[in-house]
Amino acid sequence: MPSATPESHAPRIVLGVTGGIAAYKAVELLRQFRDAGYFVSPVLTRDATRFVGALTFSALGSEPARVALYGDALTPIPHTFLGQHADLIVVAPATAHFIARYAMGLADDLLSATVMASRAPVLVCPAMHTEMWEQPSVQENLATLRRRGVMVLEPEAGHLAGGDQGVGRLAEPEAIVALARHILEGYRGILSGRRVLVSAGGTREALDPVRVMTNRSSGHQGYALAEVAARWGARVTLVTSSPRELALDVRRRVDVVAFESAADLAAVMLERADDHDVVVMAAAVADFTFDAAPEKMKKEDGVPTLTPRPTTDIVSALSARRRRGQVMVAFAAETRDLEEQARAKLRRKDVDLIVANDVSSPGAGFAVTTNEVLMLGRDGSVARISRRPKEAVAAEILIKVASLLSQGAS
Ligand code: CTP
Repeated sequence: MPSATPESHAPRIVLGVTGGIAAYKAVELLRQFRDAGYFVSPVLTRDATRFVGALTFSALGSEPARVALYGDALTPIPHTFLGQHADLIVVAPATAHFIARYAMGLADDLLSATVMASRAPVLVCPAMHTEMWEQPSVQENLATLRRRGVMVLEPEAGHLAGGDQGVGRLAEPEAIVALARHILEGYRGILSGRRVLVSAGGTREALDPVRVMTNRSSGHQGYALAEVAARWGARVTLVTSSPRELALDVRRRVDVVAFESAADLAAVMLERADDHDVVVMAAAVADFTFDAAPEKMKKEDGVPTLTPRPTTDIVSALSARRRRGQVMVAFAAETRDLEEQARAKLRRKDVDLIVANDVSSPGAGFAVTTNEVLMLGRDGSVARISRRPKEAVAAEILIKVASLLSQGAS
């Protein structure tokens, strides 16, 4: 998986290049995409490499060019990774052959499998001889693709290979870049330009070098919030106790920071909160910690005496020093009197929104993939979100957050 590079927040373009003479122009197109600040992953068909070497694309791309569907050293399943992480796929030049295979839904090489494995917008830029361009089969295939939402930038008239003249020349790189920018900007989500800080998972308080006190939080709800916020255009910092156990689909806009204890979490949150427009405390934080024994506690020393010390109430500390317009969201894990307890926490923690769940009810709370919550806003709003996947709950929470942001919160 590509690591977090300084440009990892840049929109990601998969540049697909197929086997036509205009493949040489894709080199210039790649350079212009990079100059415009995009992260570009070149994907070449085998025939494209007959016209221009993959090395040229590797040298100019944000990562090495890929050709093979299997056996990729960078990513084990390249087509799904590329497809899912792309903000835009541009195929330039697109041959009549590629267009036919795409229209039929064939997925037998890396580029055709990548377009199939993606929900990103796709821009196809055909280039071919006039006779081929005018074939009803080509035009019908393009009509099929257009009907399915694929965008087509038509070729221009001019010189073609072999000294011919006519329609079929690949659109100029400047025109392709301008259209790509337009498409990318049109796909900005409701949290675009916002920075969201999410904590997820449970704290672990050391009792001795071997033992910890922890809780049942799995981190799923926090991950779902990070994921959906990133998909909706936010830049996300995810502070998590389970960086290895859970996977994120949308890594490109998420910086992951690990924590272990309540004190670690407090330090990270207090340091980072100022840089974020939204803070969501989805982590389950221990209310007490201990002075950990320096050596392992032994049975023969008898039943140990543990002296708990209270931890910092992180979300209250963050609310107390929040900047204007910053939206603060807390969770409330309860086993009884959900609404009453949640109302009290909303006031006590001085947050904009509290998301309360009854952790004793099946299908809600800890260590399950669904949740059922009550959302109470400082503005008096009350919303009951019935049981659904945590990702769908995250979407409801973030819609509310986006509306609070647009109102300037508190
Ligand atoms: N929280 C926090 N710091 C703590 C404890 C909790 O920031 N030391 C946050 C949690 O992340 C959550 C909210 O406060 O967003 C409520 O957590 P919860 O455990 O439900 O409430 P507590 O404040 O711990 O109160 P109690 O345990 O008495 O119900």
